[in-house]
Amino acid sequence: MLVPRETSCLLERISGRFRKSGGLLARVIAIANQKGGVGKTTTAINLAASLAAFGEKILLVDCDPQGNTTGGIGFPKDPARRTLYHALILGEPIERVIQQTQVGRLDLIPSDKNLVGAAIELVGAESREYRLRELLAALRERYTYILIDCPPALDLLALNALAASDSVLVPIQCEYLALEGVSELLDTLMRIRRTINSQIAIEGILLTMYDDRTILSKQVAADLRSFFGAQVFTTVIPRNVRLAEAPSHGKSILEYDIHSKGAEAYTQLAKEVIANAEKRAGAGAGSADSGAGAGSPASADADAGPNERADAAGGSGS
Ligand SMILES: Nc1ncnc2c1ncn2[C@@H]1O[C@H](COP(=O)(O)OP(=O)(O)O)[C@@H](O)[C@H]1O
Ligand SMILES: [Mg+2]
Repeated sequence: MLVPRETSCLLERISGRFRKSGGLLARVIAIANQKGGVGKTTTAINLAASLAAFGEKILLVDCDPQGNTTGGIGFPKDPARRTLYHALILGEPIERVIQQTQVGRLDLIPSDKNLVGAAIELVGAESREYRLRELLAALRERYTYILIDCPPALDLLALNALAASDSVLVPIQCEYLALEGVSELLDTLMRIRRTINSQIAIEGILLTMYDDRTILSKQVAADLRSFFGAQVFTTVIPRNVRLAEAPSHGKSILEYDIHSKGAEAYTQLAKEVIANAEKRAGAGAGSADSGAGAGSPASADADAGPNERADAAGGSGS
């Protein structure tokens, strides 16, 4: 029987929610913020490892040419290693690019500096925003979560990541002007919804590098919560030196120091992500806009406003 494409997409999305606990269809989460140094990579590695520790089957995709996720999970620089570049640009089978990490149930698609070329080489290509989505489509049945660590930019690589994702998790450093950065990012997200990925949801906003001894951290956290409400994860990631040390040992925080505050926080975040997935599954074909918490405040879902037509995606609408 022929099923119209839209119907089959919808069924896939709905059944994905129900089948997820059976581990059959991954939720793809982009970890994104155009700003550098906010904790994207730290979150990608440690959320991935924590989800794996809960028995989930995880694929971590390093979509940043800096390759910090690749190094941080235990793969020192090696020019001979195949990376996302080989799959995206050279058409290498993805099987030959995926690496098993030392963490059980956690695989990696590595990157290195060659990936810089991909952002440029994709420019003239057909369906240039959807290359990663096509690559991941075949892998979704093997994992329960696919986490994509995004570059600190809004280039074609980042657009590929956002086009491939069900949701975006936004780490925000608890610092001065944090709120301005997020508004910009949400504008971008609205543009993404209008152009390359109408389905993308907000997985949640994650407060990182929180220092409970400073008034600034507390103030920023309070502002973000009052603005974004339930879309902010309950879990807060504290500033914790063990989190900063772990990558130079090529280890996630769970392997490096399971008793640290950082390990505790990322374990808590993984629980929250899983609980939200279960809530969504329970709600069936609920709104694609579900945020970190139960409800989604109007603020973050509101129209992007006057900036909407700006540069974001080179526009093959979906
Ligand atoms: N919670 C934290 N506590 C202490 N240091 C952190 C924490 N999160 C990240 N860092 C450190 O801050 C720097 C930037 O973090 P990173 O995850 O690489 O950010 P991004 O990927 O957004 O550029 C890194 O040196 C990292 O080790
Ligand atoms: Mg990074």
